Amino acid sequence: MSEDRKVTIVEVGPRDGLQNETRVISTEDKLGLIALLADAGFSRIESAAFVSPRWVPQMADHHVVMRRAERRPGLVLSALVPNEKGAAAAIEAGAQELAVFTSASETFTLKNINCTIKESIERFKPVLALAARHGIPVRGYVSCAMDCPFEGPINPWSARSVADRLVALGCTEIAVADTIGCATPDGVGKMLAEILKSIPVSILACHFHDTSGLALANVDVALGYGIGIFDSAAGGLGGCPYAPGASGNLASGVLARHLTMLGYQHGIDMARLDEAETFALQVKSVSPKASKPRALGR
Ligand code: HMG
Ligand code: MG
Repeated sequence: MSEDRKVTIVEVGPRDGLQNETRVISTEDKLGLIALLADAGFSRIESAAFVSPRWVPQMADHHVVMRRAERRPGLVLSALVPNEKGAAAAIEAGAQELAVFTSASETFTLKNINCTIKESIERFKPVLALAARHGIPVRGYVSCAMDCPFEGPINPWSARSVADRLVALGCTEIAVADTIGCATPDGVGKMLAEILKSIPVSILACHFHDTSGLALANVDVALGYGIGIFDSAAGGLGGCPYAPGASGNLASGVLARHLTMLGYQHGIDMARLDEAETFALQVKSVSPKASKPRALGR
């Protein structure tokens, strides 16, 4: 099989998968999940979010998780950070990659990180500078790249404009996100066609939630555009506490099996992934699903 049939799966379960759970999930369980995912062969695991514990209590142990998660050759542990404070703490705890996050929707940005899109970009400047000093790459998320729970359909141009600003800041990868899992293949195609006018396909990743059951169809469209990086979460856990209606991420096992069926290499050991997904679902099953977004912002 040729090299260009390789796809990277970025596992976001320990962060996006767990952030929406109301029950306190123990640090040991988070570390156990990360270890099982590493055993399964993921090369990139988004392991924690260095956000305000008042806004997302589930991630309050971010520092311990990141510091104690086992380092392995070929594995990059990344941290979601909203600002310089989070970036400094994540780097201090040993994060090997950072991810900043903003959105193509003004309303969602305000609800999620309590600032405008423009202000979020300003906040990221010191994050990028700090990361550069430490030689750490920074991914930039564009949430609500197609649909917003507050504003409805998003113009593809808005997603491109935000992606362009993140690249101009120095982000080395852009993850376009269907935050509430309502995007259609048509919407994904239109958004990617627009973004690819200015951003190289090699640095674009797709982050699909699966509320409408269309995530795999959306993956197929993205593959058609040459996208080679996809996010997923063990067991299909996940959701954003500030995006009403956002349900789980595309499940890692579902994605990996689909890619295998299409002839793509992803390097994941399916038996090990099954173990990790079983564990993820056990961790979650004792927990009533979080649903109420906490309104803390302006
Ligand atoms: P704010 O209240 O405007 O912040 O929140 P502030 O600067 O006024 O600070 C308020 C307090 O928070 C202060 O503490 C700060 O020190 C503290 P106090 O003086 O009151 O004790 N603080 C922090 N603490 C820890 N870590 C930090 C940090 N920054 C400030 N980094 C803020 C602004 C961005 C902090 C807040 O809105 C926040 O944390 N939001 C995070 C929301 C979130 O995590 N959402 C889910 C992740 S995004 C997502 O899921 C989408 C994604 O998956 C892609 C997709 O699917 O679309 C990525
Ligand atoms: Mg997400």
